[in-house]
Amino acid sequence: MKKTVLVSGGAGFIGSHVTVELIEAGYDVVVADNFSNCDTTCFEGVKKITGREDIPLVKMDFCDAAAVDKLFDGYPIDAVIHFAAYKAVGESVAKPVMYYKNNLQSFLNVLEAAEKHGGCNVLFSSSATVYGEPDELPVTEKSPRQPATSPYGNTKQICEDILSDTVKASSGAIKGIALRYFNPIGAHPSALIGELPRGVPNNLVPFITQTAIGKRECLSIFGNDYPTPDGTCQRDYIDIVDLAKAHVYAVTRMVEGKMKKDYEIFNIGTGRPVSVLELVNAFEKVNGIKLNYKFAPRREGDVTAIWADPTLANEEMGWKAGRSVEETLAAAWAWERHLAGK
Ligand code: WQD
Repeated sequence: MKKTVLVSGGAGFIGSHVTVELIEAGYDVVVADNFSNCDTTCFEGVKKITGREDIPLVKMDFCDAAAVDKLFDGYPIDAVIHFAAYKAVGESVAKPVMYYKNNLQSFLNVLEAAEKHGGCNVLFSSSATVYGEPDELPVTEKSPRQPATSPYGNTKQICEDILSDTVKASSGAIKGIALRYFNPIGAHPSALIGELPRGVPNNLVPFITQTAIGKRECLSIFGNDYPTPDGTCQRDYIDIVDLAKAHVYAVTRMVEGKMKKDYEIFNIGTGRPVSVLELVNAFEKVNGIKLNYKFAPRREGDVTAIWADPTLANEEMGWKAGRSVEETLAAAWAWERHLAGK
């Protein structure tokens, strides 16, 4: 029997790539989204890539408990992947109440509906931000979480704890996996789905591609005096399709009863540190473009370096990042050109 996966926030950047991979792996998917931070571009792209016109799309807000409950009544949900959340670090500092209310309430509603419907497999989209500025690199899942430096980061930590406590109390009815993403970048190789930031991008790769296409004048590299090999920050950039596939491995592990514990955590990264300058150079080389960039002061709140030890996901789930940074940056550029109609 085909299993059904509910993807909350499924019309967004990560959600749309995950929907494609789930469908290609043989799952039925229900996409639910309130379109607060995206339009239907990616959902339309998902339909084109998969050749499926019949993917259910529910326009709803996960902060509406009755609507979430109705969703669980309406579909035979075997697993839910919860993406629906606000995600801008700076905005969360300015609007903490909005962030705590939205990110916590929506997740609580999912868990409450799961409890009411006899249990569920719950995959929570967490972040490497929970590690803060790590004492040791690379970080493993056993590395300590650091006090969050933004309300956004704090919602990730709190939601992890809510899931862990709920699983513990549910006597096996609710099982949970938290995937801690490092820096997801890139786009689907079809160039039909990708990142669609509203306004000026906060994240590095959309800023790079928008500068390359001429939408932004110049990329500022925030800080070149960090204690790293070239002075710029190091991150673990994970290809969006590789990241999406990790969700298929995690869901399958849950629905097939292969979990070792009822609540598990996995780092989703490559294990490879890449500096801002290295990323810029790789983008220029693979796409044959000269990028306009300058060095600028450090950005407040940035950690110097963080990358994953992905051994647990590799060995336990059988998932491994496969695409090179060059392939990923070529895909990101193809998506930007697709958006510009070039
Ligand atoms: C990467 C590097 C910047 C923009 C954030 C969130 C995290 C996660 C992913 C998402 C840093 C540098 C950036 C620019 C630059 N959450 N940079 N010029 O900060 O590692 O992680 O996004 O939903 O929780 O904190 O990612 O892409 O913003 O930055 O030099 O214009 O690029 O300083 O070193 P970050 P990022």
